Amino acid sequence: MNRQVKIIAVFASGNGSNFEAIAQSIKDGKVNAKIGLLVCDNEAAFALKRAERLGIPSTVFEPKTFDNKLAYEKAVLKELQKKNVECIVLAGYMRIIGKILLEAYPNRIINIHPSLLPNYPGRFGIKDAFEDKVTKTGVSVHLVDEGIDTGPILGQEEVAIDRVDTLESLEEKIHAVEHELYPKVLQEYLGKLKEKKE
Ligand code: GRF
Repeated sequence: MNRQVKIIAVFASGNGSNFEAIAQSIKDGKVNAKIGLLVCDNEAAFALKRAERLGIPSTVFEPKTFDNKLAYEKAVLKELQKKNVECIVLAGYMRIIGKILLEAYPNRIINIHPSLLPNYPGRFGIKDAFEDKVTKTGVSVHLVDEGIDTGPILGQEEVAIDRVDTLESLEEKIHAVEHELYPKVLQEYLGKLKEKKE
């Protein structure tokens, strides 16, 4: 049976505005999912405060407290399995996903990136486009593979860079688009996923 409401985990390292936008879309009935867990890799992530306010369970795993990445991801995976998580949604998670999670969640890890991939991958997608003086950039939602921002693209939207834009105004425009695009693409993609076999 294909369960209607998919259980997802959101991974975040910082602010968590995309996490909150997804939570709000779920509340509004626009995304048929349940956030089983917010996973943060540091206890200072503001996303944790949002989770508390929203009543969403959260957990912190700090990689530096583990022997290596394998051990770190194994511990995270155990927690995801406990919560029956079917899909991982990265929202400002500043780490490369390793073998353990990629193998446990094939085609089930989604990321949002603030550029029109394959242009401007990496940490500074917004700034790199801005400094390049291109006239448009955008937002991409894609599946995660072993590369950095390289997996198959699920959805994209363009954002114009106007002459009057500053880096800050561009960031604002990009985030506004992210908060609409991510829930929309998630809803489309989750609907196509079969129930996850353990
Ligand atoms: C977003 O710009 C997202 O595209 C990138 O990291 C940022 C996270 O922002 N991967 P927030 O933490 O969701 O506010």
